[in-house]
Amino acid sequence: MRVIITKDYNQMSRTAALIIAKQVRSKPSTVLGLATGSTPLGTYKELVRMHKKERLDFSNVRTFNLDEYFRLDPSHPQSYHTFMFENLFNGINLKPENISIPDGMAENVEGFCTEYERRIKLAGGLDLQLLGIGRDGHVGFNEPGSSLGSRTRLKTLAEETVRDNARFFGDKKEVPRLAITMGVGTIMEARKLVLLASGQGKANAVMKSIEGPVTAQVTASALQLHPSVTVVTDQKAASMLRHRRYYLYVEKMAEEYEAEAGI
Ligand code: PGA
Repeated sequence: MRVIITKDYNQMSRTAALIIAKQVRSKPSTVLGLATGSTPLGTYKELVRMHKKERLDFSNVRTFNLDEYFRLDPSHPQSYHTFMFENLFNGINLKPENISIPDGMAENVEGFCTEYERRIKLAGGLDLQLLGIGRDGHVGFNEPGSSLGSRTRLKTLAEETVRDNARFFGDKKEVPRLAITMGVGTIMEARKLVLLASGQGKANAVMKSIEGPVTAQVTASALQLHPSVTVVTDQKAASMLRHRRYYLYVEKMAEEYEAEAGI
């Protein structure tokens, strides 16, 4: 696991965007797994800038989003459909037919979830999955207690998550209680994982996920079992990490090595 502790939110976003850009440039038909929430906003802004100013090309990229609220119309201002189009898709040259977001309005939810998994497989699997983390350590909407082998399914949101998401809705009562989310097992099959965390509110979840035991009570801790994970945080989100100095040292050594090797 690589832990990159950056100075602040902007540097975290820039670092994450560079990782994604490198992936897309090295494989133009990359299958990207995408996340929503406030954390990846800066990353998406930077990707849009790179598309416009540095010709970062998404024309052959395919995307699968992690999750969507259940029974929230895609046109709702707080749906993850709306979020993705407003914050990323409208600013880059993805083909509409290459975009997949769970359908929160699906009549047959189970059938839809099975089909979503099948579509990911048909696309060749996720090359890189971008992740945020909840204050309870969730990835996607895999709340505490989610099986670490879980697949895409309907999930009940934890009280804390509903409270956290209430800031986006006028009234707490309007916050959906259910969501369709990729499972931990689905996420773990991506070839690379990039987890972003920003702010003091995430420090405890980050510490438990990276340095705590692997447990279904903190689903992000499953990432410890994945062979290719990069965690990008700002200083606040990293503030509770016991081995913080070591992670900084590793990155400094990597920079020196890369400079020497001319990479
Ligand atoms: P946030 O949400 O980026 O809005 O903090 C992250 C999450 O709940 O996964």
